[in-house]
This record gives sequence, C-alpha cells and structure tokens, in this order.
Amino acid sequence: MATSKTLKVVDGLRPDIGLQTKQRTQMAEQLAAFLATTYTLYLKTLYYHWNVTGPSFHSLHKMFEEQYENLHEAGDAIAERIRALGHMTPGTTREFLELSAISEDESLPRDPRQMVKNLLKDNESASLAARIVLKNAQEVEDEVTADMLIERMAYHDEVAWMLRATIE
Ligand SMILES: [Fe+2]
Repeated sequence: MATSKTLKVVDGLRPDIGLQTKQRTQMAEQLAAFLATTYTLYLKTLYYHWNVTGPSFHSLHKMFEEQYENLHEAGDAIAERIRALGHMTPGTTREFLELSAISEDESLPRDPRQMVKNLLKDNESASLAARIVLKNAQEVEDEVTADMLIERMAYHDEVAWMLRATIE
C-alpha cells in the first residue's frame, strides 16, 4: 500500500475517537489511496461525458454525468473522513495518480463502447479497492469508515452492472 508524504497528524489535537494512533494512520493512508482512485475515476468519467459521440450520445452523456456527480460527492466525503481521522488529505493530481488503483487514458477512446468498457473495468477495480480497505476497517473496528466503504462498493457494483448492460 502506497503512503502519502502529505499525511500528517495535527500535533496537539489528536482525535480521541476510540481508535489507536496507528489505526487512524493506517485507515487514513488507505482512504487516501481510495480517494485517489475515486478522483481519477471521477475525472475519467467527466472526460467521457464531455467527449462521447455517436447515436448513443444523449444517453451516455447523461449516464456519465450521473456517475461523475456521485464520484465527486463521494470524494468529498472520503477526504473529510481522512480529516476526521486526524490527517491531512492529498489533493493534487500528482498525488492522486501516484496513489490511484485506476490509471488515466493515454489517449481518448473514440468508440463509445470502449469508453463504457473502460469505465466498467475501472468501477470493478474501485469496488475491489474498497473491499480491501473495508476488511482493514473492520479489523480495527473503524465502523464509520467501514460503513462508507460498503456504500461505495454497492455503488460501484451497481454502476458496473449498468455499464455491462449497456454493451451486452
Ligand atoms: Fe455537462
């Protein structure tokens, strides 16, 4: 698991929320990576929303919009959970690319089916990334983080189904 140099405990104001310092740090680091995954997917979905073409333009343009809106909101909630755990959150594209489980496109796909396939794979990767952090959150009994991750897994699984159904 990659760690971010930007994650620093705020001295003197450590949260006393029933988790050990080590556990809070571990969860914050893992959430930082999941935030990076979420944000990279947000940006890619927005990129496709802007650039999709063809007969399915309208439905894909709208569907991608719903998805990037959700990802944007989720990113905010994940970042704020990192803050509640007593750490600073990463917020630059350089850090996000370093930490993300999802990579950016090297070139823009022109085929809308390829866009859908890419987002399908990425939503599955995001679900898997959430699952791994969830296991650790459950181990340290960080129920708030666990609850958030269950919700993110359910979302990514649902989106993956919808994307799959679009190209089947
Ligand atoms: Fe738009």
